[in-house]
Amino acid sequence: MPPTDFHEEKMHDFYYKQGELYCDKVRVSKILKKTGTPAYIYSHKTFTDHLAKLQRAFRSAKPLLCYSVKANSNLAVLRALVKKGAGLDIVSGGELFRARKVKCQGKNIVYAGVGKTDEEIRAAIKVRILLFNVESVPELEQIDAIARKMRKKVNVSLRINPNVDPHTHDYITTGKAENKFGIDFEKAREVFQDVKRFTHAQVSGIHVHIGSQIETGDPFVEAFQKILEFIDELEESGIKIKFLNLGGGLGAVYSDENPQTAEEFARKILPLFKKRKFRLIFEPGRFIAANSGILATRVIYVKETDMKKFVIVDAGMNDFIRPAFYNAFHQIWPVVKNEKAQAWVYDVVGPICESGDFFAKNRELLEMHSGDPLAIMTAGAYGFAMASNYNSRPRACEVMVKGSTFKVVRKRETYQDLIRGERA
Ligand code: LLP
Repeated sequence: MPPTDFHEEKMHDFYYKQGELYCDKVRVSKILKKTGTPAYIYSHKTFTDHLAKLQRAFRSAKPLLCYSVKANSNLAVLRALVKKGAGLDIVSGGELFRARKVKCQGKNIVYAGVGKTDEEIRAAIKVRILLFNVESVPELEQIDAIARKMRKKVNVSLRINPNVDPHTHDYITTGKAENKFGIDFEKAREVFQDVKRFTHAQVSGIHVHIGSQIETGDPFVEAFQKILEFIDELEESGIKIKFLNLGGGLGAVYSDENPQTAEEFARKILPLFKKRKFRLIFEPGRFIAANSGILATRVIYVKETDMKKFVIVDAGMNDFIRPAFYNAFHQIWPVVKNEKAQAWVYDVVGPICESGDFFAKNRELLEMHSGDPLAIMTAGAYGFAMASNYNSRPRACEVMVKGSTFKVVRKRETYQDLIRGERA
């Protein structure tokens, strides 16, 4: 059966006591009695503990840790992290709106993304964000023009694509030459040589993010070394770099992988930046959020065919798309564990009309019955954030557990929510 602690470090606050799954000090079945299923359940403590691990590991360098909002953008999550000193990494006007809702100051916000619109750029300039992470020359020209019109100076980092393979899933690889992200060294060199033509966008930083769920330090070191050589070259020609944004990408623990800890990561990369003067920025998303949440669901039917036993649950790929989209592995734990039950091999699937609508294939689980609650583990990052209404399914509720209390931090959607804004 699944271990409660599957890493040498404590990864989260979901555990069993007398056969019952707990989140921090609250019984998961008690929450489900109130909320029904499917429900995302988050541990406030796991979120803030993971942020603290990074803060501790990097304290000597005093970086700005900007939590990547895209991983989990619930206001309660953002508020918890901002309160503990996190800045925010945003990629849209909508994320900026959320950042402001939790009173994150502009000076702690960095803004990435390949397709920022004029409206989004204006909104970000208005709240005086710290940095735009710029991904192309046309975008840089546009930010400069808008800032000039608004008579404001803005800081810009160029996102460099260092052409490094992070050895992760293709869909979450961003720093290889064929990816749409960032600009190559050659182009970046040209931009810096001609930097005076930008009167209001001050190109004073470099940004690099090579991918997500990267389990060892080596690809990071390779990328950062290339970036530092480039910075040396710039500085020799009199160009000053004030900000170095090293992106996100740290892996989380989904099963038996053993990704580097925050301490190991810091030990590996901090020596590279010794004696350097720039302000370091990180944008971790998954590392903070993934282990902090589960998706609780309930068995509707157990269906047997000649080939398989299917456990059909009330969550679908619209609620949680990672297995369907990336073939991602997520542990599945019973909410109430009956040690005496026999184990069977199941496919755990949702009710959606797609064969890709599965959460696990050929997975050994204790015998399942209709009505049994299950927990899809490590669903705190890119879970609810990627949910949709496909098959006209209202999105699940989200619950935050803090110590021995819990609160619904997003209501389950209703059928009325589904048709809001529509006209027949
Ligand atoms: N910074 C930038 C510029 C990014 O593009 C991303 C993620 C992050 C930071 C945060 O990366 P993290 O620390 O979470 O690895 N939906 C996919 C992951 C997509 C990541 C997109 N960019 C998944 O579920 O695996």
